[in-house]
Amino acid sequence: MSSDDVVVRMKGIVKVYPDGTVALRGVDFEARRGEIHGLLGENGAGKTTLMKILSGLLKPTKGEIYIRGKKVQFKSAAEALKHGIGMVHQHLALVPVFTVLENIILGLPSKSVDIERIKELMETTGLKAPLNAIVEDLPLGVRQRVEILKMLYRNVDILILDEPTTNLTPTETKELFRTLRILKEQGKTIIFITHKLKEALEITDRITVLRKGKVVGVVETKKATPELLARMMVGREVIFRIEKKPPRIGEPLLVVEDLWVRSDLGGWAVKGISFKVHAGEIFGIAGVEGNGQKELIEAITGLRKVERGKIKLMGIDITNKSPSELYKLGLAHIPEDRQRLGLILDMIVAENSILGIQRNRLFIGKLLSMKWKNIFSHATKVIRRFEIIAPGVKAPVRSLSGGNQQKLVVGREIMKEPKVIVAAQPTRGLDVAATEYIRKLLIKMRDEGKAILLVSADLDEILQLSDRMAVMYEGEFMGIAKPEELTEEEIGMMMGGYRLEQIRRR
Ligand SMILES: Nc1ncnc2c1ncn2[C@@H]1O[C@H](COP(=O)(O)OP(=O)(O)OP(=O)(O)O)[C@@H](O)[C@H]1O
Ligand SMILES: [Mg+2]
Repeated sequence: MSSDDVVVRMKGIVKVYPDGTVALRGVDFEARRGEIHGLLGENGAGKTTLMKILSGLLKPTKGEIYIRGKKVQFKSAAEALKHGIGMVHQHLALVPVFTVLENIILGLPSKSVDIERIKELMETTGLKAPLNAIVEDLPLGVRQRVEILKMLYRNVDILILDEPTTNLTPTETKELFRTLRILKEQGKTIIFITHKLKEALEITDRITVLRKGKVVGVVETKKATPELLARMMVGREVIFRIEKKPPRIGEPLLVVEDLWVRSDLGGWAVKGISFKVHAGEIFGIAGVEGNGQKELIEAITGLRKVERGKIKLMGIDITNKSPSELYKLGLAHIPEDRQRLGLILDMIVAENSILGIQRNRLFIGKLLSMKWKNIFSHATKVIRRFEIIAPGVKAPVRSLSGGNQQKLVVGREIMKEPKVIVAAQPTRGLDVAATEYIRKLLIKMRDEGKAILLVSADLDEILQLSDRMAVMYEGEFMGIAKPEELTEEEIGMMMGGYRLEQIRRR
């Protein structure tokens, strides 16, 4: 392979976001003409950031980019496009009320509109789409084809696809792969971002693995195995262990039987999941985000409809009950999206401290008058017990730091004395001290005999806290085991779509 074949060369790329997050720590990346290059890594590894830099959407803090040997510095995506670089984002960016054709030609001068050429592109690449159909009426697989067509019509020959198969059916995925092989034959470079090991092994020629903003290695796909990739992807530093007594497991308090739940898009997000969480146990759910964890939690906490199956809380059928009924029955929820579900930022600390229990007679009197004295004293208790740093109970929640906002949510939920706690990404975005505080608190709750269901994209968190864990992939559990019984490799492979039984038979 001559060096002329290297069309993309990124050197020493560092990216620090304005809020101080270091997403990339000196990344070297290369892609060749006529190759499908996989970019693999866990959530937060920096894949999207790196490719946004290549496609001109973000500026690197440091580092150099060479396209076909020439040094470039893109000021915008339009400039990268002029160099033949285009990115299809995971959240498709077409104008939903426009037709396919209108989307393809959007922004181009009208004299450059050449319908014959679009049709020819569709023929040669297999990217067929009805030109006059309104985009929002089309299935996601077809919309994605339109995005790719749009790029090809603009003469893109370095095509970046960010997790392109996430919302595709298996048939659509096959069709996409067929197209990608054709594009590769035409000499185009395709950069394929994914978490899915099978896909990476099936479609790519080489794979670069990122972990925590650094390149772990580059492998030729022919020489790669799922075991190797899994190890590269999740390889852990020595895991820092939190003090934890052996669990004293009691009765099953939360029982989920053959649960089926739909996603916002109408497909199945949860496909027949069953498990039990016992008193005195933390049951962790790991997995790459977007594999149905969110929908599962929403179904359990009454925020999303259960289509089939059953959920029982301490023996009582709670399927499709409302969040307030669930709360009365002893279920607390530390939501993933605390800005939306957890707190009302413009309200004061005291008001937020009683959300969910605001109808309690303690807080509300006749004619719906608020009993402020009681509310303030409740809020003061929450602040003291959970060591929340706030200017006072009357301060707006917006004025608290992220860590203290989260402590308020957690504290509020635990003050309700629940039997079962559902915690979704409970330490996301928190600093080390706040993270440790919340993790210890969850363990304390477990030791007090509560049943805790923990969902986290942070694998370390799952490994540290869980007594048993499951790995979720495309709406199913790939296996349930004690964390100490699983190897890194097994976890990585389950995250990438292999079942535990399957892995152990290999
Ligand atoms: N706009 C932003 N501001 C601050 N931090 C950000 C921003 N976008 C991403 N990050 C952070 O940068 C790191 C890398 O994120 P990035 O989205 O590139 O990861 P990724 O590998 O694409 O992950 P995923 O698999 O979840 O898509 C993460 O820690 C993320 O939280
Ligand atoms: Mg990403």
